[in-house]
Amino acid sequence: MSPPALPRLSGRRVLVGVSGSIAAYKAADLVRQLRHAGAEVRVVMTRGATAFVTPLTFEALSAHPVLDSALQTDQGAIGHVELAYWAEALVVAPATAQVLAKLAAGLADDALTTTALSVNGPLLVAPAMESRMWHHPATQHNVATLRDRGAVVVGPARGDLASGRAGDGRLVEPADIVAAVGAALGPGDYAGRVVLVTAGPTAEDLDPVRYLTNRSSGKMGYALAQAAAGRGAEVVLIHGPTALPAPAGVEMVAVRSAQQMHDAVFARRDRADVIIMAAAVADYRPAAVSEQKRKKGDGPLTIAFERTPDILAALGASDFAGTLVGFAAETENIEAYAKDKLARKQCDVICANDVSAGQGFGAEDNHLRLFFKDGRDLDLGRGRKAALAQRILDEVRPA
Ligand SMILES: Cc1cc2nc3c(=O)[nH]c(=O)nc-3n(C[C@H](O)[C@H](O)[C@H](O)COP(=O)(O)O)c2cc1C
Repeated sequence: MSPPALPRLSGRRVLVGVSGSIAAYKAADLVRQLRHAGAEVRVVMTRGATAFVTPLTFEALSAHPVLDSALQTDQGAIGHVELAYWAEALVVAPATAQVLAKLAAGLADDALTTTALSVNGPLLVAPAMESRMWHHPATQHNVATLRDRGAVVVGPARGDLASGRAGDGRLVEPADIVAAVGAALGPGDYAGRVVLVTAGPTAEDLDPVRYLTNRSSGKMGYALAQAAAGRGAEVVLIHGPTALPAPAGVEMVAVRSAQQMHDAVFARRDRADVIIMAAAVADYRPAAVSEQKRKKGDGPLTIAFERTPDILAALGASDFAGTLVGFAAETENIEAYAKDKLARKQCDVICANDVSAGQGFGAEDNHLRLFFKDGRDLDLGRGRKAALAQRILDEVRPA
């Protein structure tokens, strides 16, 4: 039988719980396959699981720290709570008889079970155990309890078991678990929508070797593109020069100058339901680009600049019928400038960030306030750009 095709899980946040079964090593392949499908993966382990596979293995495969103690904090934040709020789904694979019992009873005496009680999304369990353990009425009762509560039980399969006997209790193949995660998460609330995002700086050439740019890293726009793809949108990311990897499942359009970004946006805007302009577009460019490298002279140098096209204002003034979202990076008077920009550029929403205190440009964190056309405003507070991206998408989702 051919393995099921991997679902698209781009940007989906999947928490893998590993418990103390001999099949724990297969969870390493599960993490790998989930990431291959585009998911962001984090891992939580029981103490028992760490006797079979080290947290280091999962840390390397998931590219994130592993939680293996309920008493762990991350720079003051409570590890299991943060992880639970981060996760869109929890998949426990392999799930031991013990962990099934604890989940059914609502116990919270280790990192995995404590986290599980705070996860809001779907719970999937992939049991793995010796055949008699699986068929024991206690285990069957626990599985039935979990099913009644909405958990998805994947497997177990029948076959050779670690004990040398054959029977029910084998962990199903990782690809089947990935498929079940895809089905449980569903298509996402942006399915069928086209989201166009701009990101990063622009670069305005002065001569063949010199150019003007700015400190934008592109992280906010890339986070938005990844989040929208994860929620099922068809995403086009028009980006200036950045050092970031392409988000999975996103169509990338590389540009350099403000003019090129303008042209790329206008060539694609008709298909877009939402346009989010997170790029830091140059306002000015050298009035003349020298074809040869400019030679240095003895005295000072004056360069004439001209305005670049104002992409956001041009979109606002156009017949674009979708939702138009702009960004404002300010160092002072945030509210006044953001409201002014909202009106001048005829946007639906302005996401304002304070770049005065080491926030914003280049950082992982941001502090955003949203200002809406109808006069509302919403302080999203300070947070990771990935988390803020999700909140922005909650607010700008077309009806
Ligand atoms: C070599 C070995 C293999 C085991 N394999 C399993 C297993 O596949 N499934 C299971 O339910 N328990 C298995 N156990 C027993 C569990 O490790 C034990 O019940 C433990 O308390 C589970 O704790 P945890 O679920 O918190 O990790 C195994 C134990 C040993 C020593």
